[in-house]
Amino acid sequence: MARIFSGIQPTGQKHLGNFIGAITRYVEWQDRGEGIYCIVDLHATTVAYEPKVLRSGLYDLAALMLAAGLDPERAIFFRQSDVPEHAELQWLLTSVTAYGELQRMTQFKDKSAKQELVSAGLFTYPVLMAADVLAYRADTVPVGDDQRQHVELMRNVAERFNARFSEQLVVPEGVYPEIGARIMDLSDPGSKMSTTGSTEKGTVYVLDEPKTILKKFKSAVTDSDNEVRYAPADKPGVSNLLEILAVARGTSVAALEGEFTRYGDLKAAVGEAVVDYLAPVRERYADLRADEAQLEQTLGAGAEKARAIASEVVADVRDAMGVGPVRARV
Ligand code: TYM
Repeated sequence: MARIFSGIQPTGQKHLGNFIGAITRYVEWQDRGEGIYCIVDLHATTVAYEPKVLRSGLYDLAALMLAAGLDPERAIFFRQSDVPEHAELQWLLTSVTAYGELQRMTQFKDKSAKQELVSAGLFTYPVLMAADVLAYRADTVPVGDDQRQHVELMRNVAERFNARFSEQLVVPEGVYPEIGARIMDLSDPGSKMSTTGSTEKGTVYVLDEPKTILKKFKSAVTDSDNEVRYAPADKPGVSNLLEILAVARGTSVAALEGEFTRYGDLKAAVGEAVVDYLAPVRERYADLRADEAQLEQTLGAGAEKARAIASEVVADVRDAMGVGPVRARV
């Protein structure tokens, strides 16, 4: 059985890219294997942030994921900082991570350009990500396209550790959605939809009001040749709309291409489909978000289960590295 791990940051409002590229897939995959899903609050401290906003953002995201159908009885669902083994393993793995490798990370280059203080944490961020996954010997990592380089790094780190010390770690595989791996900004379809980089008009939030969603799709940027055809390189705006519609309706892009002759009809159809697609989450969200004590209880129970796995793996890693006393085996 597959062991699936993925993480998501509790920063900003979650958008359609996070939802399609990640959250819905966690929900779908929870029956395909042993799912372990983590809200990565430690990662969120690597750029400028407000402690209060971080904490409330964490509850927002926990409620959103539960509203989307993540079932804490079927998957392990927890907060990263509740399992200190993540931070410990990160430190241990920095010794098998190359400085040059971290320097090449494009997300580091993009994010550091926007920071007044470029923290060492931002630089070693991908090592914490590697620790997240490797601490569970997870083999499958569902993520969007923007995480490819980070997944490659964690594979290198695991391979290097196994070769240098002993075969303790599982080398994980990234899995990317066939459609919707890179949802683009509706107003600027050359850039991905993102928490910090994309335009407000072109970013659809999961909890946007239906009328806001319709408006954003109505003003989506397309192109001037008026042909509804899937061609991401030449027609990024139209192709993005087709991908979103395919996901929202649960069909293929090819099945949709012939359905529309006018851009206006396509935009209206995508807007309506997305409103319907997100409606169940909106309906369930408010009640879940209102009960922080219940959210804490859910996350705490998840952390206990996570810790039972991670503490064993980290003890094996320490032992293999000669750190601490020889591990007693029963
Ligand atoms: P984060 O929080 O930025 O994004 C969460 C997930 O959403 C996906 N995503 C997208 N998918 C499609 N289209 C988009 N426009 C789009 N934007 C974001 C991301 O690919 C991701 O899957 N470093 C990670 C969090 C993390 C993690 C991990 C992931 C920490 N530890 C271990 C996997 C395994 C991040 O910042 O994701």
